[in-house]
Amino acid sequence: MTHILHRLIRHDYPRAATARGLYIHDRDGKAYLDASGGAAVSCLGHGHPDVLAAMHAQIDTLAYAHTSFFTTDVAEALADDLIAHAPPGMSHVYLVSGGSEAIEAALKLARQYFVEKGEPQRRHFIARRQSYHGNTLGALAVGGNEWRRKQFAPLLIETHHVSPCFEYRGRRDDETAEQYGQRLADELDAKIRALGPDTVIAFVAETVVGATAGAVPPVPGYFRKVREVCDRHGVLLILDEVMSGMGRTGTLHACTQDGVSPDLMTIAKGLGGGYAAIGAVLVGGKVIDAISAGSGLFQHGHTYIGHPVSCAAALAVQRVIRRDKLLDNVVQQGALLRRRLQERFANHHHVGDIRGRGLFQAIELVADRAEKRPFDPALKLNARIKAEAMARGLLVYPMGGTIDGVQGDHVLLAPPFIVQPQDIETIVERLGGAVDAAIAGIAT
Ligand SMILES: Cc1ncc(COP(=O)(O)O)c(C=O)c1O
Repeated sequence: MTHILHRLIRHDYPRAATARGLYIHDRDGKAYLDASGGAAVSCLGHGHPDVLAAMHAQIDTLAYAHTSFFTTDVAEALADDLIAHAPPGMSHVYLVSGGSEAIEAALKLARQYFVEKGEPQRRHFIARRQSYHGNTLGALAVGGNEWRRKQFAPLLIETHHVSPCFEYRGRRDDETAEQYGQRLADELDAKIRALGPDTVIAFVAETVVGATAGAVPPVPGYFRKVREVCDRHGVLLILDEVMSGMGRTGTLHACTQDGVSPDLMTIAKGLGGGYAAIGAVLVGGKVIDAISAGSGLFQHGHTYIGHPVSCAAALAVQRVIRRDKLLDNVVQQGALLRRRLQERFANHHHVGDIRGRGLFQAIELVADRAEKRPFDPALKLNARIKAEAMARGLLVYPMGGTIDGVQGDHVLLAPPFIVQPQDIETIVERLGGAVDAAIAGIAT
């Protein structure tokens, strides 16, 4: 009998006991190849000696100091490191303990920016359907996943949602990717005009959509057009790279590949690689300047922000990624993973789309390929695939509600940046077996 309120109260979870490299071992000695890094977290795999050494050293030196009294060498060094490699225009870092906290801080920074500038009437956030920005109330409010929002809807701040950039599901047959991106940018423009341009604070979007729709990259040019729309109306652009950032797509920041810089950017999972709970907001100079010239105080804060041990972990993770040139490996192994997924699933009757960037790839399952018709959600195909994969010693990140929060199933893959070709073979082989077994289980 457990006293933990687990995610699924009646589910019997195996107990993770040890982990090294790509593998987690449970208490019974079963090994699981971690092909999703949990939820795209463990970018260096498990038990990396350099990260552990940095954390041990930090614990022995200074485990904790409250940020209202002190700054620390390690937090300053991490912030310097992050800004040195940030998209153009970023000048400061706000350190938090995870992705949802990063989004909450970004929303408040954006609001405070306009208050400081003498535009207190700005109060609207616009985000996209089928997005996920976290489970705290502000983050849930901007998130666009109906299933996650529904029962809490009466508690959520008012937000407005526009269409996601989801080419497989959203691009019409009679339009090019370019025209599709333009149509979506026009939709955002129309939404801002309808609300009143001087009442909108920010547009919030995941650069590459993660959990809710499964590694969905934007069409080329989409974010440039979005940036133009935001600039036209003086609206801030907040990019959420909690899942897709910090190297996952092959560049440190996913938005680099789209040629845009946001005003605020959230990062988390790959920042600390799972070694410690840490997230951050990268803050653009213009936001800092406004607050600095005004109250001089960001009205926010949590007890564990800038935690020295978390900062030491994150700094070590980032240094290892650079020292070992792991982003090159993300590009190479990402291309191999994509190729092997194509070979295994491109002609599969029940795989409608294979998509992603770098080591952030997904397959979308369909009952009928020609019609792109999803499986009945009651069949819980995604949960069956997860169970079949675990039975085969493979950890992947399947999710339902891919299309609208209810319909659709996908499987997300986000292996550690240290993955090698033979691991990719094992991942694709086991995933193929799991998908086939799960579908066969439905048919019988
Ligand atoms: C894009 C995105 N934003 C925010 C979050 C929330 O992060 P956390 O679970 O660390 O609060 C997640 C988590 O999956 C995410 O994928």
